[in-house]
Amino acid sequence: MSPAPLLSVKDLRVGFATEGGLLQAVDGVSFELRPGEVLAIVGESGSGKSVTAQTIMGLTRSKNSRIEGSVRLSDQELIEAGDAELRRVRGDRIGMVFQDPMTSFNPVYRLSAQISEAIRTHRGDVSKGEARARAVELFDAVGIPDAERRVDDYPHEFSGGMRQRAMIAMALALDPLVLIADEPTTALDVTIQAQILRLLEDLNRKHDLATILITHDLGVVAEVADRVLVMYAGKVVEEGTLDEIFYDPQHPYTWGLLGSLTRLDRPRPKRLPQISGAPPSLLDLPDGCSFRPRCPHEFGRCTEVPALEARLADAPSHCDRCWLTSEQKREKRQVAGQIGLEAPA
Ligand SMILES: Nc1ncnc2c1ncn2[C@@H]1O[C@H](COP(=O)(O)OP(=O)(O)OP(=O)(O)O)[C@@H](O)[C@H]1O
Ligand code: SF4
Ligand SMILES: [Mg+2]
Repeated sequence: MSPAPLLSVKDLRVGFATEGGLLQAVDGVSFELRPGEVLAIVGESGSGKSVTAQTIMGLTRSKNSRIEGSVRLSDQELIEAGDAELRRVRGDRIGMVFQDPMTSFNPVYRLSAQISEAIRTHRGDVSKGEARARAVELFDAVGIPDAERRVDDYPHEFSGGMRQRAMIAMALALDPLVLIADEPTTALDVTIQAQILRLLEDLNRKHDLATILITHDLGVVAEVADRVLVMYAGKVVEEGTLDEIFYDPQHPYTWGLLGSLTRLDRPRPKRLPQISGAPPSLLDLPDGCSFRPRCPHEFGRCTEVPALEARLADAPSHCDRCWLTSEQKREKRQVAGQIGLEAPA
């Protein structure tokens, strides 16, 4: 039997009051995450990936935001938690890695000082010497060579890839249960991307972490994810295991994402059609399926909102939000008689 979920997000809704009206950035997102699991959240720019992650960390609370639903970490409800309680959870139980480590490190302090400070803020009984030793240990664990010396460098003395490793070390400083990595490799070249992903996967296994990996690139997902959530305009439009999403994708938007796939480790597969047009404005969504204006397969029923549900008898945890029948989906997604992707090895 699989272990109980560590993180359980139910019907999460995040809206922002803007001059143009209420912008519903996240609109009913639910998922569960277990220790040792990597969940990927994918989707184009503006689909609500970062707002979902930031809300889990309590970082979207503000006067103009409206947050509804539930985020449970073990038995603790985070949506209702006080600010002080959330600060304790951040870093201590949930670590976060961002796209650009320069925004997380202060350029004027040595890395050792910043990591020690993060540790000592949460663990008052740890001495400066112990905290520095822990920073060296963490640098070693994330593969920074010559850790004992490099830990006293300033952030700008590190290359992009090494800085990203230092950021991961910082996120792991307090032995969190959950690691959220938001576009952790976009700023890096392809070889370094692969190394960072391998590192995240390694750490995930070694520490039995529950990891959320956010990216707009399904190629990145193929490297490490166990399950995938595909987001479009604030909603999940498809959810399934890595193999289900790659080899039996059900939603036309997922086909489009797969069509623009770049994989790091394999030759480019036959391409599915790419998506034309741009994501809709969240302040002016079409009626029915949000993907309708860009969907080449739209038909009468699409003016009703499709529910996210399991539509395949043999795959109860593979869900999508598209009215086409599974036979129609199988037919329409094919390129020259094939889905255009290689079969699993
Ligand atoms: N504080 C805020 N106030 C108003 N709107 C916001 C705020 N934060 C985010 N948004 C809007 O919410 C939507 C979702 O943003 P989000 O950052 O989650 O997108 P994303 O999927 O992470 O995209 P990207 O791939 O570009 O990082 C966007 O339309 C964004 O402009
Ligand atoms: S519900 Fe209709 S518009 Fe939406 S993805 Fe399916 S076919 Fe396209
Ligand atoms: Mg983002």
